[in-house]
Amino acid sequence: MQKRIRQTGIHVLIAIGVCFAALPTLAQGGGSKPAASANPWMNASLSPDQRADMVLKQLTLDEKISLLHGTGDLDSAQLSAEGKASSNGGAGYVVGIPRLGIPGIQMADAAYGVTRSGVNGRYSTALPDDLAAASSWDTQAAYTYGALIGRELRAQGYNMTLGGGVNLAREPRDGRTFEYMGEDPILAGTMDGAVMQGMQAQHVISDIKHYAMNDQESGRTAINANIGKRAMRESDLLAFEIALHDLKSAAVMCSYNRVNGDYACENKYLLTDVLKKDWNFPGFVLSDWGGTHSTVKASAAGLDNEEPGEIFYGAALKQAVLAGKVPMSELDEHVHRILRTEFASGIVDDPPKKSVIDVAGDLAIAQHLAEQSIVLLQNKNAILPLDAAKIHSIAVIGAHADIAMLSGGGSAQVDPPGGNAVAPPGKGAAGWKKNPVWFPTSPLKALQAKAPNVKISYNPGTDPASAAASARTADVAIVFVSQWEREGMDLDSLTLPNHQDALVQQVAAANPHTIVVLETGSPALMPWASQVSGIVEAWYPGSRGAEALANILFGDVNPSAKLPITFPLNEADLQHSGVVKPPPQSTSGYWGADADKKEAAGLPAFQVTYDEGFLVGYKWYDAKKKPVLFPFGYGLSYTTYAYSGLKVTPGKIEKIRFTVKNTGSRAGAEIAEVYAALPASAGEPPKRLVDWNKMPLQPGESRTVTIMLQPKYLSIFDEAKDGWQLVPGAYTFFVGGSSQDLPLQQTVNLK
Ligand code: BGC
Repeated sequence: MQKRIRQTGIHVLIAIGVCFAALPTLAQGGGSKPAASANPWMNASLSPDQRADMVLKQLTLDEKISLLHGTGDLDSAQLSAEGKASSNGGAGYVVGIPRLGIPGIQMADAAYGVTRSGVNGRYSTALPDDLAAASSWDTQAAYTYGALIGRELRAQGYNMTLGGGVNLAREPRDGRTFEYMGEDPILAGTMDGAVMQGMQAQHVISDIKHYAMNDQESGRTAINANIGKRAMRESDLLAFEIALHDLKSAAVMCSYNRVNGDYACENKYLLTDVLKKDWNFPGFVLSDWGGTHSTVKASAAGLDNEEPGEIFYGAALKQAVLAGKVPMSELDEHVHRILRTEFASGIVDDPPKKSVIDVAGDLAIAQHLAEQSIVLLQNKNAILPLDAAKIHSIAVIGAHADIAMLSGGGSAQVDPPGGNAVAPPGKGAAGWKKNPVWFPTSPLKALQAKAPNVKISYNPGTDPASAAASARTADVAIVFVSQWEREGMDLDSLTLPNHQDALVQQVAAANPHTIVVLETGSPALMPWASQVSGIVEAWYPGSRGAEALANILFGDVNPSAKLPITFPLNEADLQHSGVVKPPPQSTSGYWGADADKKEAAGLPAFQVTYDEGFLVGYKWYDAKKKPVLFPFGYGLSYTTYAYSGLKVTPGKIEKIRFTVKNTGSRAGAEIAEVYAALPASAGEPPKRLVDWNKMPLQPGESRTVTIMLQPKYLSIFDEAKDGWQLVPGAYTFFVGGSSQDLPLQQTVNLK
């Protein structure tokens, strides 16, 4: 059985990774490493905390300060001489202490692959985006995802990632939805935790962002998110809490926005009360780029490191320490957290060495992960899988499907090998930062390779009438549609842009065997859903997206992914009527020099009020009884499954047992989902996901699964007691293959 990674499994993997720890090396950006005898902190058998304390005692005030800020933004003129000399070219660099063998921290954005590799004359694999990764509901796959990124970071000389976001999709028009893991805190937190474990095992510092409530991009540097503590703890913060649980060497990036009045990067409740005290987070907090707003307040609130420069944590911090406004003990704690994370991650004992990555091996992984993440949403009359022996012609239409597939933009953008496959519009356009980047993975070629004897045509889809004409004479039409997303902007709407709905409608009218493939980073509205036979959500599928898609369409791979986010029927059904826009004086620019800082300085706080509270995603639609297009947890397979024999055994830890059988004729993998409805007195949404199990099943095979539920996942956050609380009463457990298809149900009384 394909088990979700449980702590024990992770520990075994980490133990294997740790044997690298004793290798002799050069400290990156730091010169040769002093011998362990001269520097007792080089003794790897001491704890990271002991080692950090030893180093701390050796540091001058200037050295301490130097660890608490970056060396300048690579993109701006402010990059310091030190940064120029030693930075590996990533988004951020923190100097090392060469005389003590402490390496610099080389940070690269790496949400779905290592970024800026092209700029450095190197190459990285693009994985399917993070929302796609969450669609696999497979923690082993997520671990593999993180491990690949960790290996490729190291091969390019980086020892820290700036990737891995779990902001919940309470606003699915958020332009970074593709960088996050959907709408459920338990799914998002568990999946991102596994990604980070995979990175950690490769001896890089992993990072989680954007802490917290950075749920829209518009005016992100000035917006104030208003939300109650209970709602926040049970939704967005729970995702962070789960992901960070049991991580030894992570960093947390605080976000640009304000939360309940204070900027996230100087928010004592978020950084100290919750993260460092309640969750016992041992790592360090770094600000988002330009997200630091003060010295004394930020330091007291728990911000450890300013990025990317030193406006507040350079000379200003030194002065504040000398003036007694920042106590030395507070400064030392920041430094200790950075040093202990360097030791705990293995970057001191096992620094990265530039090397050539296993391109073919990593592409194979990218393809496998994409195959696990592509969701089959509709399959009328079993139009899929396609049978190359039975069809003679396919009309491929739209979205540059002859040469490429779309990727998500902004700081997460991975450079495509050979450059953007589709030339950006306009002369001398600003490159990948402002334009959609298409990866050279060709659906047309991949389909043709599967069916060499089938005549496959391509029509760009820019003229619906001509596209319909090409579809009319084909056995099957496959229309590719897309919606591009990037950091720094939000979608105006979930409607597909550029008249793509009309394109689908006209093609569907011309050919009853029409299949739509979506390349989106968020849900899309599909007014044509009932008019087409097949619908497949490919997300932004990465370097090998086309090959993965072709395997799904032709049935070499049986789809097994499920939606980590609800696809609504109408825009009006969303929690908010639209993304809240900043006041007009906002520059709202993102990529202009210092735009964020200017915007923050010039823009008064404006408000977003999340009064839907913890009713995020399916919890909202359930509570408001709104029908949806495709529910959370939904996804089809080429086989069928039957559920039976639910037995809930109450105890200290609730135990749930049930059986799933593959009742079809193909092998597949089913994600069995467990939801709970809490007692009415708890005042909770109608149901919440509490666990799941993804299991491979041969035709006719059945498996009985036993799941031990985590008490916290059945609890509520009691604001008065400032802690989690189990509410006594009647709990109903539901089990099935989607949040809206739950054939098994049992109610038990829990004390
Ligand atoms: C983004 C972060 C990113 C950083 C460095 C910021 O603008 O919000 O997610 O890690 O830039 O590139």
